[in-house]
Amino acid sequence: MYRLVFNQVLSRFDAEDAHHLTVRALRLLSVTPVVRRLVHRRLAPRDPILRVQAFGVHFPSPFGLAAGFDKDAGFVGAMSALGFGHVEVGTITAYAQPGNARPRLFRLIANRAIINRMGFNNAGASAVARTLSRPRGVPAIVGVNIGKTKVVPESEAVDDYVTSAKELAPLADYLVVNVSSPNTPGLRDLQAVRLLGPLLRAVKEVADGTPRRTPLLVKIAPDLTDEDVDAVADLALELGLDGIIATNTTISREGVSSTETGGLSGRPLKARSMEVLRRLRARVGDRLVLVSVGGVENVDDVWERLLAGATLVQGYSAMIYEGPLWAHRVNRALARRLRRHGATGVREIIGRTAS
Ligand SMILES: Cc1cc2nc3c(=O)[nH]c(=O)nc-3n(C[C@H](O)[C@H](O)[C@H](O)COP(=O)(O)O)c2cc1C
Repeated sequence: MYRLVFNQVLSRFDAEDAHHLTVRALRLLSVTPVVRRLVHRRLAPRDPILRVQAFGVHFPSPFGLAAGFDKDAGFVGAMSALGFGHVEVGTITAYAQPGNARPRLFRLIANRAIINRMGFNNAGASAVARTLSRPRGVPAIVGVNIGKTKVVPESEAVDDYVTSAKELAPLADYLVVNVSSPNTPGLRDLQAVRLLGPLLRAVKEVADGTPRRTPLLVKIAPDLTDEDVDAVADLALELGLDGIIATNTTISREGVSSTETGGLSGRPLKARSMEVLRRLRARVGDRLVLVSVGGVENVDDVWERLLAGATLVQGYSAMIYEGPLWAHRVNRALARRLRRHGATGVREIIGRTAS
């Protein structure tokens, strides 16, 4: 059904207009608590075999929605009702900003990929904090992903992240420092350990100061060299971070013919995302929670990532092609596969094929 709607309707629209159409449909879910609760009852993960605990938070499924879809946290209830075990909102910056000029979102249908150069369009930390404070009506696990305001110079980046962290850490189940989006000039330079150390230290102080001590993760780019991946992993261990999210979109255009600038996501990112996960696991073992994202399309991908050592797995681009029942289908298939392998829970298979 969704494939028909996608082929006949959505694919004819500009990608961002199609996104707004989808979001309008989701708004129905968001403004109608009764519908949202009904959908939640039918589609949200409730099979105990899917439950997994990470950094002290109980997730109903290891499969969640990656950052960038729900930039302003307006759809946490709706996306949780549709089956995502967590929703990572953002990226949110200290100050509201419009993002880059349109067009800034492109579908590469033949490649099952997306290129975006959205540029952190978002309502700003205090507005999103207000949204997150409102009741959602259904249970939801919320990760909050923060980034640098575009107009703020690199020399003031730490203060900018700290401003967002102060507003949002108390409202988050976990907090993510995003230093890996290709669409904010200079942002990815913050991944250099020399700059990343002071940044993470400052944000961690805020996260540690919330009443529940908010877990802190860092999200990295797939374009880091293997040595840089190791360096970030070592830094995360040294600072006592809770985990690493790998990966963001890539600036590589390998395997696709589009030359649009921005970050590439979806199927072409799968191999490198897996590589980074394996590298991280080899480096940190189970001392950090690894969240794998990039090119996840189906239960086979989720399964492979769990076996390779990810505790949580996220997806975004494939949803554009698979539709609103995607998370529900992945969850059902994952529960079946766990049982087929004689497992009684997700935890039993995490890292089983890791070196
Ligand atoms: C349109 C779009 C916007 C995104 N915006 C963000 C963002 O604001 N912050 C972020 O950390 N990642 C963002 N991402 C990256 C995703 O969270 C994810 O890391 C990446 O797309 C790889 O996963 P996928 O292949 O399943 O899409 C965005 C991705 C897309 C497609």
